[in-house]
Amino acid sequence: MSLRVPVISGTRQSRMGLSRLSGIPPDGGDFFASWRTWDRNDNLNKIINMENKSFDVADLAKASDGRKKIEWAARSMQVLTLIKKRFEKEKPLKGIRLGACLHVTAETANLMLTLAAGGADLSLCASNPLSTQDDVAASLVKDFDVSVYAIKGEDNQTYYRHLEKVLDFKPNITMDDGADLVSLLHKNYKFVIHDSRFMIQDSKSGKWEFFGSSEETTTGIIRLKAMEKASALKIPVFAVNDSDTKHLFDNRYGTGQSTLDGIMRATNLLLAGKNFVVCGYGWCGRGLASRARGLGAQVIITEVDPVKALEALMDGYQVMSMDEAAKVGDIFVTVTGDKHAIDITHIKKMKDGVILANSGHFNVEIAIDKLAQLAKSKRKIRPFVEEYIIPQTPHTPHNPQMKKIYVLGEGRLINLTAAEGHPAEVMDMSFANQAFSAEFFVKNKGKLEAKIYRISPEMDKEIARLKLKSLGIGIDTLTSEQEKYLASWKEGT
Ligand code: NAI
Repeated sequence: MSLRVPVISGTRQSRMGLSRLSGIPPDGGDFFASWRTWDRNDNLNKIINMENKSFDVADLAKASDGRKKIEWAARSMQVLTLIKKRFEKEKPLKGIRLGACLHVTAETANLMLTLAAGGADLSLCASNPLSTQDDVAASLVKDFDVSVYAIKGEDNQTYYRHLEKVLDFKPNITMDDGADLVSLLHKNYKFVIHDSRFMIQDSKSGKWEFFGSSEETTTGIIRLKAMEKASALKIPVFAVNDSDTKHLFDNRYGTGQSTLDGIMRATNLLLAGKNFVVCGYGWCGRGLASRARGLGAQVIITEVDPVKALEALMDGYQVMSMDEAAKVGDIFVTVTGDKHAIDITHIKKMKDGVILANSGHFNVEIAIDKLAQLAKSKRKIRPFVEEYIIPQTPHTPHNPQMKKIYVLGEGRLINLTAAEGHPAEVMDMSFANQAFSAEFFVKNKGKLEAKIYRISPEMDKEIARLKLKSLGIGIDTLTSEQEKYLASWKEGT
């Protein structure tokens, strides 16, 4: 992968040295002020205990840019800031080792600072080889002493080595985005239960207590549900994605906007007037379709679920099969969580010069493997744009022409590969859920089973209430008469 950059690794000690060299950090307002206070007052033992921790990031010299990005995102993450302030006082995660496998972005950095404020020791790796913001990774290591293992463009082997480093840290709690970490945990380690507590056993590193894992995205939940069904799930899991304050906003508005941002940054093409095919009308697809329509595209939806297809139709979109859409589309985006939603049979039917992108979790939604086999040649034409030259179909001596198919970001989630992922405003709520899930595991240790849990409706509403408050928006509350009316069946016509 051509994006591979030189690896700089080192120990906590070398990071401390670099941190000192950087001098007084730039002013970061309240958020950083409170972080620094915590850092000075409580971090001494932590530093000594964590002396031998390592990291693997692209370039520590990028830290100051990363720090500014983290600061910028913090301004729009008021709910998380409130949680961080409470965590600073209450230290609910004191003594907890927390290993996270998330997209290493400025928003994730703010989650890390919140968890650290709660007393957690942290180890972080990327949940996708292309989604890391190298400057943010550098700042987390250099400015905030978080062990980060993430490099944008890392190959698959490095990606898994980084996941293993996080598990070597013997985390008591894990956070996942796509269930790769939990899957590796189940593959590499044995679980035993002592006095209703989950213990992880390893011949090399001995035994340690495990509280649970939280999952950020739809695809991760699908994998975990499959594990639960097959009785293969050995730990409690918190389904962050299932919270209303997560998927209704992050998947819909976050993916909707940032996917278009990724496509536009990669191609610099006009969307107005283009036939824009959205494959999958779930939460991400709904957001993407509405935003593409807003930019003047003619949006076509393909679906496998008849209810969602009908909903798309009544929302005002054209709905057709992928076979039909393939013939007319200019830009295709998959958001299904499914494999080969755009297969080679579809690609063969497409027009010359079409653009294919994916914003679903894994890079399996477009059959790039089969496209590569069919292609006569392939070249990178712009950053994040690869041109495949394939024969026109049918390819006969009478029709020897070739056509060009453009694939964005190697078919990996385009909003994170070519752009910066979701805006901080929506990640604020997603990560408020993540912070609560860590606290939930600590508060309920010894009481949980190896199954999937989700946030209570009250807590979900509380996050929404805090978000509204942070935006300065007040809403009405039910009067006692209304509460009584809504709870009774006696009053009718
Ligand atoms: P969802 O379950 O709400 O929607 C998926 C839709 O795709 C469903 O309506 C389903 O019927 C449809 N579908 C499945 N197979 C299909 C096929 N072959 N052809 C057409 N439609 C098909 O899921 P959600 O929340 O919209 O997530 C979709 C994917 O996006 C998941 O992989 C999820 O993990 C990922 N995701 C990506 C984000 C990003 O930052 N790019 C953010 C959030 C989720």
